[in-house]
Amino acid sequence: MNRREFNLNLLFAVPALTLLVPQAQPQLRVNGQRLNARLSELAQYGKTPEGGTHRLAYTDADLEARQYAMKLMREAQLEVTIDAAGNIAGQRVGSNTQLKPLMIGSHIDSVPAGGSYDGQVGSMGAIEVAQILAENKVRLRHPLEVVIFQNEEGGTIGSTAIARGLTEKDLSIVTNSKKTIREGIKFIGGDPDKLASAVRKKGDLAGYLELHIEQGGTLHQEKINIGVVEGIVGVFWWEVTIEGFANHAGTTPMNQRRDALLAAAKYIDAVNRIVTSVPGRQVGTVGRIQALPGAFNIVPGKVTTTLGLRDLDAAKVQMLFEKIQSEVRRIEAATGTKFDFKQVNASQPAPTDERFRRVINDAAKQLGLTTKLLPSGAGHDAQEIAHLSPVGMIFVPSRDGISHSPREFSEPADITNGANVLLHTLLKLDGMSLN
Ligand code: HGY
Ligand code: MN
Ligand code: MN
Repeated sequence: MNRREFNLNLLFAVPALTLLVPQAQPQLRVNGQRLNARLSELAQYGKTPEGGTHRLAYTDADLEARQYAMKLMREAQLEVTIDAAGNIAGQRVGSNTQLKPLMIGSHIDSVPAGGSYDGQVGSMGAIEVAQILAENKVRLRHPLEVVIFQNEEGGTIGSTAIARGLTEKDLSIVTNSKKTIREGIKFIGGDPDKLASAVRKKGDLAGYLELHIEQGGTLHQEKINIGVVEGIVGVFWWEVTIEGFANHAGTTPMNQRRDALLAAAKYIDAVNRIVTSVPGRQVGTVGRIQALPGAFNIVPGKVTTTLGLRDLDAAKVQMLFEKIQSEVRRIEAATGTKFDFKQVNASQPAPTDERFRRVINDAAKQLGLTTKLLPSGAGHDAQEIAHLSPVGMIFVPSRDGISHSPREFSEPADITNGANVLLHTLLKLDGMSLN
């Protein structure tokens, strides 16, 4: 090849080379005003008189909010589909067709009588990032996928469906909407008979990033802008049934009762005593209880209640569960009742990816923001997607650490900061060799 030919080839090579150079866009920023306006709009779907959000998965409010989110995804120039599990995916091709997608997203379903930020900040933030990239004609090397997972609050159902698949037992669980998961998936446009098509394999993604409110008080108390999540606790839930014997509350002597609610009272105290008996940040919660038949003049014959245990160490959760089981045997003997525990959620603890933490921290620092490395006491879709790819999580402060409450609140400026960190972390990861 002579010199002239070599120079010509170099000329044609330059565009390809520029595509490989990380797309430093240091001045790029999200449209914070648009992002926060959309959060306010989204909060209208399932708005409660107390100013919170009651948008249970598989309800009309969930359906309307999903329609709104899909409209925004289309405005962000994403190709919008709903997978067989009912997850919403907004996709955009990358400049390098050999690379696996980078996924960003969260959820928009809420807990009963919840707040307007949990999941919603990350979902609207991800759409905003996609839109600002499109508006500035920045094409990533990796394909981009913006996902809104279905029914995160019911046990990270949508992300579990992608990461591990759902069993018939999962599909038969009755959710807070009173629909089973199977019925709910159909209701939101999925196909529970084709769930295999929604399952992804390890390596199908280059990475996943989730922006989320902290839901704890550390960042707000210490006046720190951004949380870099080091790991997400395991979340384990059981439905608990206590069988006693319903009988006349006036004629049944106290020493001849099999009072299921008395047994439940001893159980609830035991959970708290056992979980606080060992050092650490583990938590145990009994979140719901119902006594039946439920009348002044009947000794409760049956109680349905729950158990939730969380920790970064799954072995510690197992140890606590076994201690609770031993204590329950003693309660059964003392009250003449029978307990049954049915596990309905087992999301394993998930460490985030060390490279992703570093990139998140660098992106935040370059934006002039303060950061802190901290664990997540809340469960997230990221812990399911961690089965498939490296994950990173970005936290923004929750006022007074309140969440799962109408008083949940994050400052618009903090939300904008979080979305900018998501944007620049994505750009940095896009320039890295992740596969
Ligand atoms: O329960 C949780 O930790 C999460 O908010 N779904
Ligand atoms: Mn959440
Ligand atoms: Mn939540």
